[in-house]
Parts: sequence; structure tokens; C-alpha cells
Amino acid sequence: MTTQPYDFGMIGLGTMGRNLVLNMSDHGFSVAGFDKDPEKVQALEREAAEHPVHGVRDLAEFVAALARPRAILLLVPAGPIVDAVIDEIKPLLSAGDLLVDCGNSHFSDTDRRTDRLEKEGLHFIGVGVSGGESGARFGPSIMPGGAQEAYQRLAPMLQAVSAKVNGEPCVGWLGPRSAGHYVKMVHNGIEYALMQLISETYHLLKEAGGLNNDELHALFSRWNQGPLQSFLIEITATIFAQPDELTGNRLIDLIRAGAKQKGTGMWTSQDALNLHVPVPAIDMAVAQRDLSALSAERSAAQKLNPVTLSGIAVDKQHLTGLMEHALHFATIITYAQGLSLLHHASATYRYELDLAEVSRVWRGGCIIRAALLEDIRAAFAQQPGLSNLLLYPVFAQDLAPLQKGAREVVKIAIDAGIPVPALMACLSYFDGYRREWLPANLIQAQRDYFGAHTYERIDRPGVFHTQWGQ
Ligand code: 6PG
Repeated sequence: MTTQPYDFGMIGLGTMGRNLVLNMSDHGFSVAGFDKDPEKVQALEREAAEHPVHGVRDLAEFVAALARPRAILLLVPAGPIVDAVIDEIKPLLSAGDLLVDCGNSHFSDTDRRTDRLEKEGLHFIGVGVSGGESGARFGPSIMPGGAQEAYQRLAPMLQAVSAKVNGEPCVGWLGPRSAGHYVKMVHNGIEYALMQLISETYHLLKEAGGLNNDELHALFSRWNQGPLQSFLIEITATIFAQPDELTGNRLIDLIRAGAKQKGTGMWTSQDALNLHVPVPAIDMAVAQRDLSALSAERSAAQKLNPVTLSGIAVDKQHLTGLMEHALHFATIITYAQGLSLLHHASATYRYELDLAEVSRVWRGGCIIRAALLEDIRAAFAQQPGLSNLLLYPVFAQDLAPLQKGAREVVKIAIDAGIPVPALMACLSYFDGYRREWLPANLIQAQRDYFGAHTYERIDRPGVFHTQWGQ
């Protein structure tokens, strides 16, 4: 407890909201927290004990407790709940107050809300926050967008609570309007693809390589010391070693293999399709989550189409060496796809994103933090207009030897009947992106044949139509 007025308000005291409040108070900011659920308010007060934090059950009391102009953070589930909270609190606010949506809102909702509230004299900004529970508590990566003046009001607090890499806070103003939520959405798209690639790696190592959980734990731990070093590789190593409290067996083997999703990966693919930017690794990751949920259908299909190709002997040592290269290769391609979406989206939506800054903010605290982001940051710092990492000579040099591993792994997977769709999507993207000629001339001929859609020629300017087959 502290005396009023509080520096900040937080609406939504679930896992993320509560931990962010505690993090803010660790850094000397006083915070009033509100939640409709009295148990969540109690949970905050219990944990806050000695902190300058006040849990409130009444919205009017909460608003009245805040220093003016008010700055109120929202950490509530994305979607209609955000609008409901805004509608409820709006009559209690005064001109100049600032609402900060820290959830995973769709960027189009953020634009709509910003426009609406600015017209009514209130400020609203969308801020992506990544890092899960422990990130919120001890240092997330923070992706703010919206009016720069509004960000400046929050900057000292956001810098204090964010993760730090070499002393640099993993936060920075990214662009106007919904830029922050757009960058967070693409962060999640990359997260989906990396998780899918790691799970395909697990599948192959377990079934084609015969690695047990101890070996997987040791391998991922080793990989985490090398170029693959990242949060997702690190937690994967730990997962393989985790015992189950109920049975004493490894927990990983007891988890039902159906992946859930809240939709941010799908939004990334949807917007990439709208903008005509290929991000096949992300598309495939979303499709594989959907496939994983169809367990009854897959079980029926397995009976009709039994897997009979599993008897392939692969040397463990050989396979793990290839896999490290394949995963490294696909990881670079995945970041390349996500960042190329940001490059194009920035032009379309006039975000003017600085992709070196985005990579800098992603280096710590977030789910996709990785050693590789340091090189990615350097690439964009060197060449700010870079439309694709594959056009940067350092990455081209890195990918040349790694692609061999990816090709070998895909061959092994095909022979073993083990699906590696995201890895294959990465390899095909690479093979397509680096070819000046692709067979789309035939598609143009077909379009012109059946629909008189016309085509261009390589030997003369103009637009042509042919009476095909005559
Ligand atoms: C993060 C995560 C976070 C959340 C995902 C999970 O950056 O901290 O991305 O936002 O864990 O939304 O998404 P799914 O439930 O869709 O897997």
C-alpha cells in the first residue's frame, strides 16, 4: 500500500497483469490494480505485501486513485473484452488520460480504438508485450506503437521494467498507430514457425534417430551453447528432462499431442496473404496446429494408411549433426520470412519500421529471443532498406553450407514417412527465392488460355493475348 495518487493503473490482474504490476513496483512505480474477479485482486495484494501496490475492486475508486493525467494499462484477453473495458471506463476518464493496451490485440482493432478515443480527447496506444509469466515479472520485451508523445510518458517506466541485453532495455518506440501490435503479431507468427520446426526436429530425432529423452535433453542443451542458442531451444532442453510428479515418468511423454492456439499465428498468415508476402513457414505452422487438433480423424486415417516406412537405420551421430544444420537453416529462413513481412507491411501501413530496432527489442525478454538476432540487427543496421535477409551477403554465406543438412534431413524424413512440412517449406522457399526463373510463365499461359487474362513477353514490351490451340 501507498498513499494516493498512484503513478499507473493496471486493468486485468491475471498472470501477465499481476506480474507486470509487481515488476513495475520493483522499479519504484506505484500501481493501482483493478480486476472484476475479487480473487485476482486478493492474489495481487497477497503477493504485493511490501510493494507500493493497491488492489481495487471498484472501477470508480480505481480511476480516482490515479495521478492525473492518468496512464492506465490494460492486460485483458484480446477481442470484445478490450472494447467492453474501454466502454466501461471511458465515462470516468478526463481529457488527456492515456489507455495502453498491452494485450495481443489485432492491429486493426488497435487502429479503430485509437481513432475513436483520440476523437474523444483520450489517448490510446497499443503495446506488444512478450515473455510470458516470468518475462512480465522480471523483464519482458516491449513493442510500443502509437503516438510518440504518449509513448514518451511511459518510456521511463517501460525502460525500467523491460528485459536488458548488455544494459540496453528491450523496448523502443516502433512506429505510429498499430505498429507495436503489428510487430507483436509477427513476433508470434515467427514463434509458431520456430516451435513447429523444433517439434519436427523432435519427431525425427525420436522416431528416425531413436533418441530418448535424456539424449534429447543433452542434445538441445548442447545446441543451446552454439549458433542455435535461443529461449525456445533452452526451454526445450529443460522440457525433455522434466519428471512427472504423478507417475515419475517423463512429463513430455504424457502430454496429449494436440496444440491449441489463440490466433496470433493465423493472423500473421492472414495478413501476409492480404499483402501478398510469402511466409510459408508460418502458414505451415498454423496448418500443423490445426492438423494436430484433428486427433480422431488422424487415428482413423492411421488405421487405413498404416505407417510402414519406419525401419530405416540412421546413425544417431550423423542425424544429429545434420539436424543441427537443418534447424539452423530453417531458423534463419523463418526470421527472413517474418521480417520480410514487416518490411512490406511497414510500407503498406506507413509504419516506417526500423527493423534494426525491432531486432534489438527482440534480443531479450521475448519468446523468440535468440543469439541470431544480434546478426540480424547488424544486417538491418548496415542496410536499413533490406527487403529480405536472404539478400544480405553474410546470411547467404551462412545458408550455403547449412542447406545441405536441410536437404539430407528432408530426404531422411521422406524415406521414414515422418512429416517435416515447415522444414520443407523453408527449403522450398529458399530454392524458390534464389531462382531468377520460376515456372510462372506456364501459369500465365494457362490463365490466358482459359480466361484471356493476357501475359507479358520477355522479348518485347506490351500485353498480349493468344487464341490458344488454334
Ligand atoms: C509471448 C507469447 C504470448 C502467448 C502466445 C501464445 O510473446 O509472450 O507469444 O503472447 O504465449 O499468445 O499463443 P498461442 O496460445 O496462440 O500459442
